[in-house]
Amino acid sequence: MPPSSPANPLREGLLSRSAPEPCSLVIFGATGDLTHRKLVPALYNLAADGNLPPSISVIGFARREKSDEQFRAELEEAARKFSRQKINDELWPNFAASIFYHRSEFTNLAGYESLAARLDELDAHRGTRGNRLFYLSAGPDQFPIILENLRKSGLNRAKEGSWSRVIVEKPFGTDLPSAIELNNMVEGSFREADTYRIDHYLGKETAQNIMVLRFANAIFEQVWNARYVHHVQITASEPLGVEGRAGYYDHSGAMRDMVQNHLLQLLCLTAMEPPTDLSADAIRDEKVKVLRCLRRLAGPDVAEHVVRAQYAAGSVNGRDVVGYLDEQNIPATSQTETYVALEASVDNWRWAGVPFYIRVGKRLPKGATEIALHFKSVPPVLFRQTSQAIDDNVLVIRIQPDEGVSLRMSAKLPGSSLRIEPVKMDFHYGTSFGKATPEAYERLLLDAMAGDPTLFARRDEVEEAWKFVDAIRAAWDSGEGGPLANYSAGTWGPDEADELVKRSGAAWRRL
Ligand code: BG6
Repeated sequence: MPPSSPANPLREGLLSRSAPEPCSLVIFGATGDLTHRKLVPALYNLAADGNLPPSISVIGFARREKSDEQFRAELEEAARKFSRQKINDELWPNFAASIFYHRSEFTNLAGYESLAARLDELDAHRGTRGNRLFYLSAGPDQFPIILENLRKSGLNRAKEGSWSRVIVEKPFGTDLPSAIELNNMVEGSFREADTYRIDHYLGKETAQNIMVLRFANAIFEQVWNARYVHHVQITASEPLGVEGRAGYYDHSGAMRDMVQNHLLQLLCLTAMEPPTDLSADAIRDEKVKVLRCLRRLAGPDVAEHVVRAQYAAGSVNGRDVVGYLDEQNIPATSQTETYVALEASVDNWRWAGVPFYIRVGKRLPKGATEIALHFKSVPPVLFRQTSQAIDDNVLVIRIQPDEGVSLRMSAKLPGSSLRIEPVKMDFHYGTSFGKATPEAYERLLLDAMAGDPTLFARRDEVEEAWKFVDAIRAAWDSGEGGPLANYSAGTWGPDEADELVKRSGAAWRRL
């Protein structure tokens, strides 16, 4: 029997406690890609499902000259292209009426002062109660000036009985010093409790399910440790290339773009101890402990435990694609990695000796993110005579696509002889719950409106993650970290990555 699902999983989800409150959401960098592809479609879907607070205003703050009407028309076009649910022609005008455009340079204090006046006016007309949610989705070089002007204009300070919060989009710094600087700057304007650092992987439904799988089931947690687990593989593969983001990506590379945030967050959720309760801080305390236990890879250890590579020309899904160095606006001598495979060790009581393999790359054959726990082999005693290799148990948490969980186990093939075959127990969200999973941004926006920071990164998490990543990058820069390998686009990465896992007798899963 399918498990009964709550009437409204977004509001009644296990980690969500309070309802989102009426507010004005101000998006800095409102004409950018994120607003079009993710934020506005997410807001529309929330509206269509009846999940937005009763009153909300969305104010786009950007430099270009534009009227409210023009802005709404642009967003409608984007929402029709990117929304999870088809746009309903009757619903849209109502939703669009809550969207406004505020033109100003980020550097111009007067633009913030006029924003404050406009927000007061909207409060009076729309019942948004003086609550403000500022979304920093402009380029990170603009964050300092936006934060400064929010402070100077007093917008960071909530009026009596209201709140003022800030959502900070990634990248959160480019290394530890810049992250500390940014954190200090944010702290100068907003309290930590009002700061929401986005890591959209935490908003993915299946990432949230990791804790439920582990701590709401009696059987898994017993074997979730070094005694039973041989190794863990965390993979995020993408067929996409740099997709017009050369300027950002070439300075970032896969390590900063994906490992520092998304992949380490997945590792934390997989490796953490049970929190004392479901409060945001209890959960984040446990995650940060994992990051503190991560063995720092530095100097020559990096060459041994980390593989970095860049894609060469090849073919992805039957389409010929150019190599990274031939992508538009990528310097011909770029040494930026588009692929990373690494072996991490969580040096604590639970995980001592268990390799955590992380693999992430662009222009791989398939788009898929998953966590796989490979269990140790059974003692080679009873089935020796069958001279068959018995596959180890593997528990796979599919983050995306086809969200779900599967367990590989061995079973006897029907018949008079003893033949053992691997079979799969499989849970699919789609078939069990019969509804589409919401987009990560839907959940995260709602949580920020409800004042629940559980699914956002805390300051110490971000800084600890940078420590791990910075040591590896320093070894690459000094030449001790080993060379940059190559892989053809459309393959599963360089041979060196296969060698990395072979040392423990493992092999990468074919997704
Ligand atoms: C972003 C990275 O944070 O995550 C992108 O900057 C990457 O390079 C993206 O493509 C992947 O997200 P998702 O949700 O598509 O797995």
